[in-house]
Amino acid sequence: MSAEINWTVAADESEVMSLDDGIALPVTVGGLPIALCPFEGQIYAVYDVCSHGQAALSDGFLNGCILECPLHQGLFDIRDGSPQGEPAETPVPTYPVKVEDGKVLVGIAA
Ligand code: FES
Repeated sequence: MSAEINWTVAADESEVMSLDDGIALPVTVGGLPIALCPFEGQIYAVYDVCSHGQAALSDGFLNGCILECPLHQGLFDIRDGSPQGEPAETPVPTYPVKVEDGKVLVGIAA
């Protein structure tokens, strides 16, 4: 049995897709801080707290599919949350995203 997913509107698609290069959009979904990251025409949702310390990843820099933490420059792949550069060693959670009627919905396990 698969876990139930709660889909919540997090932002307008146009807002995310019109972000300047390098910028991720911080939102709150179901009480969770999440960074919405555009990459190659898709939107990815990443937990917006670094796994290395108390830093908002959305305050960092998005370079392609890599989000750089603003505090110690740890690197994460926004597609799967995997650490891509020290000192980041632990993945950050990622969440499914879908776009409906111009709205970005993020799925959180119920
Ligand atoms: S807090 Fe993000 S790399 Fe240290």
